[in-house]
Amino acid sequence: MALHQLSHLVIGVPNVEETAEYYIEFGLTGVRTEAGEWGFHTLDGGEQLRLVHSPVRRLVEMTVAADDRDDVGRVTRRLGGLGVEVTKGVNRVVAVEPVTGARVVVAVEPRLDQLAVRPTPYNGPGRLERINVRAPGIERVGQVRPRKLGHVVLGTTDVATTERFFLDGIGFRLSDRIAGAGAFMRCSTDHHNVLALAAPVSFLHHTSWQVDDVDEVGRGAMAMLEDHPERHVWGLGRHHAGSNFFWYLKDPAGNFSEYYSDMDCVLDDQIWTPQTLEGAKGLFSWGPPPPPSFLHPEDLAAMMTGAHAPS
Ligand SMILES: [Fe+2]
Repeated sequence: MALHQLSHLVIGVPNVEETAEYYIEFGLTGVRTEAGEWGFHTLDGGEQLRLVHSPVRRLVEMTVAADDRDDVGRVTRRLGGLGVEVTKGVNRVVAVEPVTGARVVVAVEPRLDQLAVRPTPYNGPGRLERINVRAPGIERVGQVRPRKLGHVVLGTTDVATTERFFLDGIGFRLSDRIAGAGAFMRCSTDHHNVLALAAPVSFLHHTSWQVDDVDEVGRGAMAMLEDHPERHVWGLGRHHAGSNFFWYLKDPAGNFSEYYSDMDCVLDDQIWTPQTLEGAKGLFSWGPPPPPSFLHPEDLAAMMTGAHAPS
């Protein structure tokens, strides 16, 4: 049938324990694996993140879920056509993205069936959805808990090659482009599951996690910043590509993590027309201006020279 989800990431960091605490505070459920590693669960997606030790922060692996063995067979043939070496199992195929070095696993997995969350009532002109009560967004008190992993963004020194690997090899579809700088690609109905972004060095830019609505984006970020204002990167705003609300925070290893809600979904590939976004539109629709460290994180220079910031 088809690819249907970005289901799992493995991230390498020098400071596993400290970073694990961050993702637990972020709202993921941390579980020690038998191997002594940290796995992290979302509310709807099960384990979607694992942290492993690495001298430099990086994306070690991503898993793309497919419906059946025929999908895995098709991916294997397409990667072969690109001259990419693969390791093939019965229900999975593994290849290394040639520019970033990230391992990409395509595996047969069941589809994620998310239960619908009751729509948040918002009042508007002539439309009263919430009468005689305060907004749920200000009454909520529990910890914000991401529903699922949404996307991963990779800085790549060769966008064309990374893009070809995902589009022509793995079978992602193109959703939009940033002129001269990147490609938003999807392996599910979400507008993007992978963004390949031009960068002077290949690195993990951010991971993004779905929450219920814009109030949860704001509440989640505010809770993360309460005792750690240095975690703030960029938000609150709304992207143009994907339309989602966003707020970016920084984990103790330097990776950005995003709370998002209300992303565009494409169910009919024939109806969606990819755009090439120019200028600021490639970054956002509204919000505070992005800080320079959003596109060029503070440890980029150290990663370029191979020097590692002390963990
Ligand atoms: Fe994002």
